[in-house]
Amino acid sequence: MCGIIGIVSTNDVGKDMLTALEKMLYRGVDSSGMAVVSEGKILIRKGVGKVGEVDRAVRLRDLHGRVGIGHNRWATTGKVSQENAHPHTDCQGKIAVVHNGIVENFEELKSQLIRDGHRFASETDTEVIPHLIEQHLQRGFEEAVRKAFLSLRGRNAFVALHIDTPAVIAARKGSPLIVGVGKGEMYIASDITAFLDHTREVMYLDDDEMVVLQEHPVFRSISTGQQVEKRRVVIGWDAQDAEKGDYPHFLLKEIMEQKETIWRAINQKDEDILEIARTINSAPHTYFTGCGTAGKVCRAGEYLFSKIAGKHVDVTVASEFPNFEHLLNDQSLLIAISQSGETADVLEAIERAKKRGTRVLSLVNVEGSSLDRLSDTSVLLKAGPEKAVASTKATTAQLALVTLLAYATAGKLRQGKSLLFDVAGEVNDLLNPRYEERVRSLAKRIYKSPNIFIIGRGANFPIAQEAAIKIMEVSYIHAQGFAGGELKHGPLALITPGTPCIVLVANDELKEGILVNAQEIKARGGLVIGISPQNHSVFDEWIRVPDAGDASPIVNLIPIQLLAYQLGLLRKTDVDMPRNLSKSVTVK
Ligand code: F6R
Repeated sequence: MCGIIGIVSTNDVGKDMLTALEKMLYRGVDSSGMAVVSEGKILIRKGVGKVGEVDRAVRLRDLHGRVGIGHNRWATTGKVSQENAHPHTDCQGKIAVVHNGIVENFEELKSQLIRDGHRFASETDTEVIPHLIEQHLQRGFEEAVRKAFLSLRGRNAFVALHIDTPAVIAARKGSPLIVGVGKGEMYIASDITAFLDHTREVMYLDDDEMVVLQEHPVFRSISTGQQVEKRRVVIGWDAQDAEKGDYPHFLLKEIMEQKETIWRAINQKDEDILEIARTINSAPHTYFTGCGTAGKVCRAGEYLFSKIAGKHVDVTVASEFPNFEHLLNDQSLLIAISQSGETADVLEAIERAKKRGTRVLSLVNVEGSSLDRLSDTSVLLKAGPEKAVASTKATTAQLALVTLLAYATAGKLRQGKSLLFDVAGEVNDLLNPRYEERVRSLAKRIYKSPNIFIIGRGANFPIAQEAAIKIMEVSYIHAQGFAGGELKHGPLALITPGTPCIVLVANDELKEGILVNAQEIKARGGLVIGISPQNHSVFDEWIRVPDAGDASPIVNLIPIQLLAYQLGLLRKTDVDMPRNLSKSVTVK
């Protein structure tokens, strides 16, 4: 979703704002813009395209000033156009605003503002914000921002500047904003990576809070106007973790980092994992929730808990959570899984659960994210910054943790740890150049196919669905994942000679069944691609994976991630930033 930055400095902010916008490109972007206060004027430049293109067209880098705001837009309300790009201003051009979120009541607000004589220049919901601030300006800029924010419905974060104020003011509810404390320079951004080059010292803006960003930032509650004290926190990531290094793409770098990240994810304190296991064992109902890929990890968790711990857990994708929330109470446990910790549907699910007194545990990658801070307990995935839109290393870290929790819940923490440490070592060995080459040769064989199907049984069924997400988003090939046993109940009709079908095999009691399904595909002329610890006569192509027991979902996913990457390269897609998608989905 949109990336926003505000900087107040003793030096010129133009270059740092441009860099910050470049660092946040991975969140998804269709237009960019910046505003600075310079010699008593607000100067704005903006345009359609990624920030580099906009810079080439309108020279963002030539904007000079000590106070500035910038924005990468991922369009929600209003088409992608120069007029709709942020920043937006009031009627006088004295206030400029960048925004992330959706103002749910913007039509109502806009009609009223037009009746009050305000003139609008865009189709966006955002533009109501500077006009609302203008409306209250006689109370001073800070109070006007507070009043304006109180009129907005929905999950919103914005940063505003005013021509006569040597500060930027930011406010949030729902969408993330983090203050970075630099040397002689203060930052506010939707994402830590925007300023990680300059500082790791941060202060979190919580929901219903605003901050006046100046040499010493002042935080206030929006509803009461009272000042709020904040702690400075030093975060564990460093700038290099968020760079591509020698890799051509973030996606490949992050796939390769799984050599270490699985190990890091399970390297948690035993007491912490045992405490969570006790909570799960004592809760009469445990629910898992997440979106997209993380939702598939939740689904895999359902199988893993059933098999390893003999325990039933319920799973619902977060956007569907409101249909089931009435089933939760103060005895229940909700486990939320998320890479970013900022996914709007997940945050809303946990807010709803908390209102019912339900305890919330999260498995989350981004330390200090909204999910991390709102949960009663959170376990950090420790995967480091994940910048490719398609989740890879965070996913396997989540799978590893869910597997570990299932073992701990079964009273077998040691056994689970030992299995997963072995698997982490095997993944380390697997991710070598020969393996990459093997997957590339498979990609060359199938990259022109319009469809790819994936089947699995048990915990590998949700992994088949996750495989489909990965292939679709990275290569734009239509892909679907099915439970092996469901094939003959419909999907077999889609298998024509040469249709690639990936069969995820684990060396367990389900192996026989999935190989029968592979035969069904073969009998219809499908191209059977086995991802399996052992080769089998039914496979036309075989990609070897380690025999990982209950951790087979982790190892089966890794060649799929590599395949999606190779397919994307062959089809010349933007593998790090697939079209229409965003890394951090902060709107519902
Ligand atoms: C796909 C992908 C998405 C995310 C989903 C939830 O590769 O990454 O499906 O899993 O948007 O995001 P998080 O995990 O940040 O809550």
